[in-house]
Amino acid sequence: MQIVSSSAAMQRLARKWQRAGTHIGFVPTMGYLHAGHLSLVQRARLVVGKAGKVVASIYVNPTQFAPTEDLAKYPRDLKRDLKSLRELGVDVVFTPSDGEMYPHQAGSGYSTYIVEENLSQSMEGAARPTHFRGVTTVVAKLFNLVLPDVAVFGQKDFQQAAVIKRMVADLNFPVRIIVAPTLRERDGLAMSSRNKYLDPEQRAQAVILYHALQAARMAVTKQSISAERLHADLKEFITAAPLARLDYVSFFDPETLEPVKQVAAGTQMALAVFFGKTRLIDNAQL
Ligand code: PAJ
Repeated sequence: MQIVSSSAAMQRLARKWQRAGTHIGFVPTMGYLHAGHLSLVQRARLVVGKAGKVVASIYVNPTQFAPTEDLAKYPRDLKRDLKSLRELGVDVVFTPSDGEMYPHQAGSGYSTYIVEENLSQSMEGAARPTHFRGVTTVVAKLFNLVLPDVAVFGQKDFQQAAVIKRMVADLNFPVRIIVAPTLRERDGLAMSSRNKYLDPEQRAQAVILYHALQAARMAVTKQSISAERLHADLKEFITAAPLARLDYVSFFDPETLEPVKQVAAGTQMALAVFFGKTRLIDNAQL
């Protein structure tokens, strides 16, 4: 397994593979890897085969964090991440520095961003106004450096995957986007690097996000229900966990992300819940 931290070297390697007709599969991450991330890597290998190359990137992207967010405290364990990726037979781990990604030359800082203007406005985009601008910008840059034929993202970040699919379509990136299922802990909590921030009491109550998704699914198995009514019911349900503070619950069309008035089987639901300073998200198709 090769570890590459220079952008120029990464792009040179990718161009060499591309010229040889080698398929490239790519999994972008911010590190502190868990089984959910690793399942995306396995999926990438499955798609490109033994003859293909699998690249994973580890980069905590500053432009997708607001000044008030947890950038400096974002968990890191490069040594453990590299061990996991090596065990999975990853070909290259791309670990650029901030200086590589957002060069700051005297008198001319970094100044180009990619903004998706529709799907990125609601939910995570409303709660974190500059977040998706950072995500689309860094993913576009990573695509230009890794030149993937296929890139794998997690359903865990449903809106992120939708925004990236739209960016790829709108800007004609020659890459196929695969969205892979959410991996969960035994009790149902979606795996996330941020789960590490939870104290034992918060951790025990965090399963409320998963239970809320299940409760909503149950509520719409036989008949549809108004979004307003289901929202009120779920708010009460979530507040029953004393450490949980609801940020949002949304019901929307999985393709357009447009909110629906009437929730039925097939509607997508997403929610964000605070436990102390830790903000957890989850989603599912009902
Ligand atoms: P990160 O949060 O590290 O997630 C990397 C990828 O892993 C994303 O596609 C995410 O959806 C996926 N993932 C996270 N938890 C998962 C789970 N429990 N099951 C399956 N997949 C899961 O998302 C980012 O990083 C960044 O925004 C990034 C795309 C790398 C751009 O900086």
